[in-house]
Amino acid sequence: MIDELRLEIGRHRESLVRELAEARSAAEITTIRERYFARKRGVVTVLLERLKTFPAADRPALGKEINEFKGWVPAQIEEALARLTPAADSWFDASLPADPPILGHRHLLTHTQQELEAIFARLGYAVAEGPEIETDYYNFTALNMDEDHPARDEHDTFFIEGWPDRVLRTHSSPMQIRYMQAHRPPIQIIVPGKVFRKDEPDATHSPVFHQVEGLLVDRGISFAHLKGTLEVAMKSLFGGDTKIRFRPSYFPFTEPSAEVDVSCFLCDGTDPGCRVCKGTGWLEVLGSGMVHPQVLRNGGIDPEVYSGFAFGIGIERIAMLRYGIPDIRLLYENDLRLLTQFG
Ligand code: PHE
Repeated sequence: MIDELRLEIGRHRESLVRELAEARSAAEITTIRERYFARKRGVVTVLLERLKTFPAADRPALGKEINEFKGWVPAQIEEALARLTPAADSWFDASLPADPPILGHRHLLTHTQQELEAIFARLGYAVAEGPEIETDYYNFTALNMDEDHPARDEHDTFFIEGWPDRVLRTHSSPMQIRYMQAHRPPIQIIVPGKVFRKDEPDATHSPVFHQVEGLLVDRGISFAHLKGTLEVAMKSLFGGDTKIRFRPSYFPFTEPSAEVDVSCFLCDGTDPGCRVCKGTGWLEVLGSGMVHPQVLRNGGIDPEVYSGFAFGIGIERIAMLRYGIPDIRLLYENDLRLLTQFG
């Protein structure tokens, strides 16, 4: 009789351990607990009632064993509750689809630069990059802007303290010289990159901005080649109906020089109140010209044999025009409200 009761308690222990191991929620564990502790017919209650049927002499030892069991059950239940992982809790549904990951995208300026690179790649241009810290010679002198050339003052240059003759390049043109010195014609490159000018930041100025320089040098290159090239490129960029206009201008390293306007892609000159062209019908987009003979010579190229053209495009300006961005600073502040509009 006594041994039988002991075996029974052992079986209860085994089955409780198994049931708790299989339980998948707090609710299931509560149900299990009820089966052991219910006032009527709970496993523990029934055991204690059966104790009365044993001879008085056996009761203290048996009662001790039943009480031990009675204390052991809640400890098992506490452990089982603690073992419940969130995955087993009822509020968690592992079959629901996950939140989609937030994917980034290229910044508007990178996108615009890559678009320009792709347009000129189709026309046969290679991409070359030059140093952002330049020598005074490459940034100015070799480009026909010697010591007291007034154009030097127009470039508000960052000089580097304790490093004489070094400047942060004020334009991408110094790469014209570097590339010509290292390569023989035909030369056909674009040079994208950062340039630096000591400007107070405002809606249209930033001390750091980006340019794409273009340079083509070969035998028999004329202004007509420059016009044709820029017309194709600007039509790719602003649309097939775009017209292009050359205005005489001045740069020390090109002769003749021209600033290039494209017809307004928004109103095509029909809206006197147009917010993009301000009613003029034209947008100024780049500087260009035929490479000055002295600049060819500085690059080690004979101007009697070769000629070429060059142009410089401001990447920020193109992006601002095309996407109607009113302030250049918006391009550097990385405000997600702006950036996410250009996925
Ligand atoms: N380097 C000139 C600028 O920054 C642009 C330019 C490049 C003009 C090439 C002519 C030829 O303003």
